Amino acid sequence: MKALTWHGKRDVRVDNVPDPAIEEPTDAIVRVTSSGICGSDLHLYEVLGAFMSEGSILGHEPMGVVEEVGAEVTDLKPGDRVVIPFNIACGSCFMCSQGLHSQCETTQVREEGKGARLFGYTRLYGEVPGGQAELLRVPLANYGPIQVPAGPPDDRFVYLSDVLPTAWQAVEYAGVPDGGSVVVLGLGPIGDMSARIAQHRGYRAIGIDLVPERLERVRSRGIEALDLRDHDGDLVEVVREMTEGRGPDSVIDAVGMEAHGAPAAKLVQAMSSLLPDALEAKLIEKAGIDRLSAFHTAIELVRRGGTISLVGVYGGMVDPVPMMTLFDKQIQLRMGQANVKRWVPEIMPLLLDGDPLGVDSFASHRLPLEEGPDAYEKFQKKQDGFAKVLLQP
Ligand SMILES: NC(=O)c1ccc[n+]([C@@H]2O[C@H](COP(=O)([O-])OP(=O)(O)OC[C@H]3O[C@@H](n4cnc5c(N)ncnc54)[C@H](O)[C@@H]3O)[C@@H](O)[C@H]2O)c1
Ligand SMILES: [Zn+2]
Ligand SMILES: [Zn+2]
Repeated sequence: MKALTWHGKRDVRVDNVPDPAIEEPTDAIVRVTSSGICGSDLHLYEVLGAFMSEGSILGHEPMGVVEEVGAEVTDLKPGDRVVIPFNIACGSCFMCSQGLHSQCETTQVREEGKGARLFGYTRLYGEVPGGQAELLRVPLANYGPIQVPAGPPDDRFVYLSDVLPTAWQAVEYAGVPDGGSVVVLGLGPIGDMSARIAQHRGYRAIGIDLVPERLERVRSRGIEALDLRDHDGDLVEVVREMTEGRGPDSVIDAVGMEAHGAPAAKLVQAMSSLLPDALEAKLIEKAGIDRLSAFHTAIELVRRGGTISLVGVYGGMVDPVPMMTLFDKQIQLRMGQANVKRWVPEIMPLLLDGDPLGVDSFASHRLPLEEGPDAYEKFQKKQDGFAKVLLQP
């Protein structure tokens, strides 16, 4: 089959690889029809290369049609239309039963001291072949796959794999009071969808980014948005003026470790990639590699006693964090990988009755797998309006 594979920093290729096969009786094989490219894939493309192996199949946002099931898979059959959550979870352990699927105790990667296995996401998360491919092997297939009805286009459902539950959790964890306000830093797919969900729930959402097309996408839905480039120096003041002088009740950081505006950490990230893999991995795990500018902005922006919800991925260990300000402002912090299946029952009604979140027109590009390498590049550089890519193998 054809698959998008990782070959090095900014080097993604279309390779011919062996078809996956059933390995465990609880596996299923899915023929992929749509598969997102995510901001998380850009970390692999750029700073997390030391944790990748050459030839690894990328992708964790697939949907498709079941082609084959193992002997113990009773809840799925060939022909079923399914979306595959990015975390691989059992559904029955202590963590899963509390809705913490990204901490699943059956699939935790204990050798690396990490949480649940993820599709297409480095050896830290089990090096499971990903879904930017024609076929995908799905472990624990009695629990993971989300069955969706025939009829609407893939666009309606594919974001259940990651974008929708991730944004939903970001808003949930932001703990916005009824009728309250939330600033969303970063308007990539995750921040954009978080702002839409916040608006849908009746909160005042204010988005912040520096890419004109992305600002326009949220403004066109009636959401306020500020261009970071217009507010170099007065951002905090301007947002306070918009929020009764106090700052928003909550801030969602949907930027993560590659934030614009942190030259020192950018330099460390760039230098570390010149080291041999083993040293680079150590440096990235143990040294400060995060460009924390968005997180620092969140700390400054949020009102006293407010909540910051970190949804952007961070990876460093010793990056300095302003503990005094966090403590003095009495800020609450919540974060983590999305627990996909936890939120599906709440999101599904919004996909079956009209399209209040605008998922049908959320993709900026729908492309064949062959154009994957080019799509990675344009998505990373934010060129040509690349905001959300769906690959259609
Ligand atoms: N927690 C989870 O389970 C989960 C799931 C999916 C994605 N993520 C993470 O969420 C983050 C966003 O993902 P995405 O797909 O939207 O990616 P993205 O890279 O397209 O979006 C990031 C956006 O932040 C903007 N930005 C950069 N620096 C900024 C700054 N200083 N202030 C404001 N905006 C800034 C960029 O212009 C871009 O639009 C990534 O870190 C990704 O890894 C987390
Ligand atoms: Zn993703
Ligand atoms: Zn579990």
